[in-house]
Amino acid sequence: MKKDLITISDLTKDEALSLITRARELKAMLKNGVIYQPLKGKSLAMIFAKSSTRTRVSFEVGMTQLGAHALFLSTEKTQMGRGEPICDTARVLSRYVDCVMIRTFEQSDVEDFAKFATIPVINGLTDMYHPCQVLCDLMTVQEKKDDFLNLKYAFIGDGASNMAHSWINAAATFGFELRIATPKKCMPNQALLNSARRGGAGSIIVTNDPKEAAQDADVINTDVWVSMGQEGDRNEKIKHFSGFQVDDALVGLCADDYIFLHCLPVHRGEEVSEDIFESAHSVVFDQAENRLHIQKSILLALLGVE
Ligand code: CP
Ligand code: NVA
Repeated sequence: MKKDLITISDLTKDEALSLITRARELKAMLKNGVIYQPLKGKSLAMIFAKSSTRTRVSFEVGMTQLGAHALFLSTEKTQMGRGEPICDTARVLSRYVDCVMIRTFEQSDVEDFAKFATIPVINGLTDMYHPCQVLCDLMTVQEKKDDFLNLKYAFIGDGASNMAHSWINAAATFGFELRIATPKKCMPNQALLNSARRGGAGSIIVTNDPKEAAQDADVINTDVWVSMGQEGDRNEKIKHFSGFQVDDALVGLCADDYIFLHCLPVHRGEEVSEDIFESAHSVVFDQAENRLHIQKSILLALLGVE
C-alpha cells in the first residue's frame, strides 16, 4: 500500500477489497468481545478545520480499541490557525505521532501535508474527496447484499461534492455501474471524470435526470445539497435541486430490494424525504457504525499491522 490514503485511487482494487474484508473481521471480533490491541503505544493526530461527529468519534474510539491514542487538534486552536505553514506542521507532527488524519477544505493541503510528513496521512474529508466514507459505504453494501461489485449504484445530488467524486473513484477502482444525477450547475469535476472513465473498468453515467439514475438501482445514495463551507451560498444553491429529493416516487423506480445510503448528517425533507430515510430500506445507521470498523482497518493497514 502507498504511505497515505488521500483518495480511493491510492488503492488498488485488491487493497481496497482487503480493507473491507479486514473491517468486517474487526467488527466480528468486537461483537464477540475479543480484545485486540496491536497498536499499543501509537498515537494518531486528528486535525479538523471543519465540524465532525462520525469521523472524529470513530477514529478516536477506533484507536482506543486498538490499544492506541488519538488527539483532537482543531486548526483554529493550533498554530496552523495563526498561519504556521503545512510543511512545518507536517514535519513537527511526524516527530510526535505515528499517523495523521486531516479534515480540511483544499485537497492540495492534504497532499502537501502528506508530502512533508514522514508518517501516514489519511484524508478525513476535503471539498474534493471523502475516501474513508465510501469504503465504509461499500462495506455496508457488501454486508447487506453479499456481492457489491455487480450492482447498480445511483447517486442523486451534488455531482461536484466530495461524496460524488469519491463514488466516481470507487466505480473506477471496483468496476461497478454508477449513475450520478445532478443539476446542470453541479456537474462533477471533468478531469476526474475523464480519468476515471479512461483508467477504470466501471461504467459512469452523469445525467441531469434523477429518474434515469434511479431506474433499477440496487443502491440509491444521496448527500446534503450544501456541503460544509458552502453555507453562504445555500439559498442560491438549493434552488437548483428541485426534483432531486429521494422520495417515494423516485425509489419506486429502483429494484424492489434497493437499499438507501446517506453518509450523514442528513437534511430531512431536502435531499431525502422523512419516509424514505426512516424506511426499512434505509441502512444509514449500520453505515454510520461501519465508519468505526473501516477506520480501524485503514489504521492497521497504514501502520503495517498484517
Ligand atoms: N459522514 C461523516 O463524515 O460524518 P461527520 O461529518 O460527522 O464526520
Ligand atoms: N458533502 C458533505 C459530507 C459530510 C460528511 C460535506 O462535505 O459537508
